[in-house]
Amino acid sequence: MEIKNLKDLKNTEYGIEKIFDEAEDFLPLLGTDYVELYVGNAKQSAHFYKTAFGFQSEAYAGLETGVKDRVSYVLKQDKIRLVLTTPLDEGGPINEHINKHGDGVKVVALWVPDAKKAWEETTKRGAKSFMEPTREEDENGHVVRSGIYTYGETVHIFVERNEYKGIFLPGFKKWESHYNPEPVGLKFIDHMVGNVDWGEMNKWVEFYAKVMGFAQIISFDDKDISTDYTALMSKVMSNGNGRIKFPINEPAEGKKKSQIEEYIDFYNGAGVQHIAVATNDIVSTVSAMRDRGVEFLYVPDTYYDDILTRVGEIDEDVEVLKEHGILIDRDDEGYLLQLFTKPVVDRPTMFFEIIQRKGAQSFGKGNFKALFEAIEREQGNRGTL
Ligand code: FE2
Repeated sequence: MEIKNLKDLKNTEYGIEKIFDEAEDFLPLLGTDYVELYVGNAKQSAHFYKTAFGFQSEAYAGLETGVKDRVSYVLKQDKIRLVLTTPLDEGGPINEHINKHGDGVKVVALWVPDAKKAWEETTKRGAKSFMEPTREEDENGHVVRSGIYTYGETVHIFVERNEYKGIFLPGFKKWESHYNPEPVGLKFIDHMVGNVDWGEMNKWVEFYAKVMGFAQIISFDDKDISTDYTALMSKVMSNGNGRIKFPINEPAEGKKKSQIEEYIDFYNGAGVQHIAVATNDIVSTVSAMRDRGVEFLYVPDTYYDDILTRVGEIDEDVEVLKEHGILIDRDDEGYLLQLFTKPVVDRPTMFFEIIQRKGAQSFGKGNFKALFEAIEREQGNRGTL
């Protein structure tokens, strides 16, 4: 059964409750707990995410807290926690990860009521273990963490923290800083997208369905997202309560190299392509980020030429959206506003999406084509197509 959107899901003979109850039964997920990036210089990355993205200093672990082999900076903005980790020694898995992939997401941690059960249920269904259930404690209580591999070398860590009162995890101390730039209005992680290699999308869709009990809510094929130049296929997997959504992309054949293929080449395999973060006011968030030096994908003026015919009535002034290069897309439940940063690392790999949903539950499918076509129209005007 293929489900195009959440509304269809409610109308299927199986019923949304039934599908989602099954998911809840063996792997209840309360939300995203944290996202950990392995980076070449955590201290400097932390400065970037504070300055440019408005994250706040939260917690720290390193030599001063008795950790000998790495440093980790934890940053927070509303419900989003980013952890930036750099090894202090040569060799070892973190160095190998950075050597192979460049800076990138290693851990997508999920908040669970029972980390031991989450590990048992997922490994029983075929997940490869990354970390057996481990109890960690300090004077603030204890957590239990466990982990499994997903695509590439990316992992999911299950975090059980209902008995913990500390700042982040045992071993971390509060990070006090005199430098505290204002937040830019980022609220929570809306979805996180994985790029996988040619022919691998269905394998990972099946992994999320079978091993983690997710349901497929949307799929696009290369007819939806392609122009003469670039193509991709995508399926969106969601957990039962809809708090965790993982689109999975695979490259498709086009005249030129697909952006997914370029990612796979530079990342040396599958990995997290973008982290989409929600805001309640995309105009103020995006203008604050631009002022602080974040670079966004270029949106040609021609994108806005036929915008209202494509998306219908919207609350915002199109001229204001145009000024900030914000994209608009509509589905049958409402519309959404979104914008993509350029890669935030040296390799053309990981980037962020800023998204404001106004009813729409989809992911901006209409923008892929509209954006590429607008760029091609501009090329046509210059005679370079
Ligand atoms: Fe996205």
